[in-house]
Amino acid sequence: MQVIRTNRELQGLADAERGAGRRLALVPTMGALHAGHLALVEAARRRADRVWVSIFVNPTQFNDPCDLDGYPRTWDADVAACSAAGVDAIFAPAAAEMYPDGAETTVEVGSLALPLCGVARPGHFQGVATIVAKLLLAAKPHVAAFGEKDFQQLAVIRRMVRDLGFDVEILGVPTVREPDGLALSSRNLRLDPEARRQARVLSRGLDAARLAVAAGERDAARLLRLATDEIAKAPLAAIDYAELRDPTTLAPAPATLGGAALLALAVFFGPAAGAARHPDTVRLIDNCVLRPTPHPLEVDPR
Ligand code: PAJ
Repeated sequence: MQVIRTNRELQGLADAERGAGRRLALVPTMGALHAGHLALVEAARRRADRVWVSIFVNPTQFNDPCDLDGYPRTWDADVAACSAAGVDAIFAPAAAEMYPDGAETTVEVGSLALPLCGVARPGHFQGVATIVAKLLLAAKPHVAAFGEKDFQQLAVIRRMVRDLGFDVEILGVPTVREPDGLALSSRNLRLDPEARRQARVLSRGLDAARLAVAAGERDAARLLRLATDEIAKAPLAAIDYAELRDPTTLAPAPATLGGAALLALAVFFGPAAGAARHPDTVRLIDNCVLRPTPHPLEVDPR
């Protein structure tokens, strides 16, 4: 498994692989790899002959410099995990490679960047879109895989690829969860044992809404309340947002669900959950798409 440090080197390899008729997949990450990232690698592997993982803690998507400094860096474990997962190359550039001195060109994201996580993190999605554009230009993949766990990020990237005409297929991969339902995230390690136990309420809130939809509930306010009531059972939780939105445009869902709706949650956990800036407070996100009409593949033929 090669480790590549420069855009030029990666572009050269991409040209050679493409010239040999091989299909290329890229899995962009910021490292601290866990089973969620490795599910992207697996999904990518099914669609390509070569799978490349990028590991780059992108400074422009952090609003808070403390968050950037505190981001977990686990290089040796990441290399071992990639190697065990059959990754063909890791792209791990230095910050100056991705942002040369004086870099000032960015990808400006439109309305998709404003709601949900965009409220608390202004500029975040511009940073994400800019680095993903640079990574796609460096790796020239046929397919790039992203997790549905970060649903808004996936929506922003799909829109960027469509709007700017990138020649790449964007693959969305379902969220990988712990046995109790908590979505895998490097942030979970920062939860103390009691907050970790209580963090189950996120996925339980999603499940409550999903079950209600399956039972015929279509009222958006009642569905939201089912989710927030579940979260309210955790004394260490404080809701940042709980919203129903259109899965493609992220516009607010109608009061009565007619089609698919994204249920998106962001919740602070910790002893001072109300104080978002408290160092022990961890902000977790989760989501699911509620489908009022059964998906054709989900209809039991019996
Ligand atoms: P990072 O947080 O490292 O995540 C890399 C990819 O893994 C993202 O596409 C994310 O959605 C996916 N992922 C994380 N947890 C997951 C889980 N439990 N199940 C499935 N997929 C999961 O997201 C980023 O990095 C950055 O913003 C990046 C896209 C690399 C741009 O810097």
